[in-house]
Amino acid sequence: MTILKNSVLGIQFENPFLLASAPPTANIKSIDLAFEKGWGGAVLKTITPDNLEMIEASPTYATFKDGHKIYGFENIELLSHLTVKEWLAGIRFLKKKHPTKIIIASIMAPVQKEKWQKLVKTFNQSPCDAFELNFSCPHGMPEKGIGMAIGTDAEISAQITRWVTEVAKKPVFVKLSPNVTNIVEIAKAVEKAGADGIAAINTVQSMMGVDLDTFVPYPSVNGKSTFGGYSGRAIKPIGLRCVAQIRQASKLPILGSGGISTWQDAAEYIALGADVVQICTEVMINGYGIIDSLKTGLADYLKAKKLNGPKALKNKAIPQLSSHEKLSKKKKVHPTVDKALCCQCGKCVKICQESKQGCLTLVKGRIKLNKKCCVGCSLCSIVCPQKAIRMK
Ligand SMILES: Cc1cc2nc3c(=O)[nH]c(=O)nc-3n(C[C@H](O)[C@H](O)[C@H](O)COP(=O)(O)O)c2cc1C
Repeated sequence: MTILKNSVLGIQFENPFLLASAPPTANIKSIDLAFEKGWGGAVLKTITPDNLEMIEASPTYATFKDGHKIYGFENIELLSHLTVKEWLAGIRFLKKKHPTKIIIASIMAPVQKEKWQKLVKTFNQSPCDAFELNFSCPHGMPEKGIGMAIGTDAEISAQITRWVTEVAKKPVFVKLSPNVTNIVEIAKAVEKAGADGIAAINTVQSMMGVDLDTFVPYPSVNGKSTFGGYSGRAIKPIGLRCVAQIRQASKLPILGSGGISTWQDAAEYIALGADVVQICTEVMINGYGIIDSLKTGLADYLKAKKLNGPKALKNKAIPQLSSHEKLSKKKKVHPTVDKALCCQCGKCVKICQESKQGCLTLVKGRIKLNKKCCVGCSLCSIVCPQKAIRMK
């Protein structure tokens, strides 16, 4: 599928689908399998100096689901359990076996110049293609002053980026946190400090819920819990917003992530400015095999749209992004009801009455609209259980 090829900072991606730094990239054997199945590359589970203690709490995950459908996923997992030596050997093995696959070393260290630079110098010697600096893990690490504690502070983020780029012999991507008031401020700070690219987003800090019998929040770790990182489909709108905001402010390459589960999600990320995408939770739920439909779906779409690759799709949606002030206020859309589908349940009438101006009425089994009072918000079409209302 040559149409999926993409080059970013001289790195040749055979397709734009990478495994994000997470459990699917936590050991060499699994990454080997993922490459065999067709993934374009992998961002390794975040590597730290060997003396940084990683003791996991159990259970590590909680979910937001409806039946078997998982919408959101929370984790309180820490970083890689492999040693630096094991990763160095693993990268060499993977690159030898899969020379066309891209390997990005995700790294994190305490806020000390020599610790960051030592890690970078060590992996400079490996055949990995780039670095990703994890400034964004929202649990466990911030308590130690690292992870999101770095990525929520523009000055510290810039300082570490300078330390790293001073010695890095490969492109440096900085992975940002969505848990900030203004992600563009952090992106601009690391760009100014020498970052070659941005990765966004890491997980969204969250609290999955509370067991109402025991009053222990989820996940319950022997009767206690903590805030975790939210991922999966539910965070796609947050990821898209962050990537688009960064793209509006910067020309740096972006590795987009957050809630991607289909080729359409990936295409949306690329249209809003991502160069390639990373996926974690969907792989944790459905396995590496999803790569087949991601690749064929995106390739078919690009062909149908007569776009000759991901680069031609990149930024396509950006010109249509504007401020609220500049949005046209002249034309309003109004609901039209498909009589064949409408079951006269009256839900649209009730909701319009209770949450808007009450512009709909049910008269002799038909929905009637008072066009003068309708503001064209579309709530009626959203709540219709029959999908009988279209906005025109
Ligand atoms: C269980 C789990 C572990 C993760 N570990 C890391 C990590 O070690 N380093 C990192 O940069 N991001 C880590 N992430 C974040 C993912 O790389 C990714 O940015 C995030 O989950 C959003 O993508 P998704 O919605 O496709 O999962 C982890 C995510 C999950 C769910």
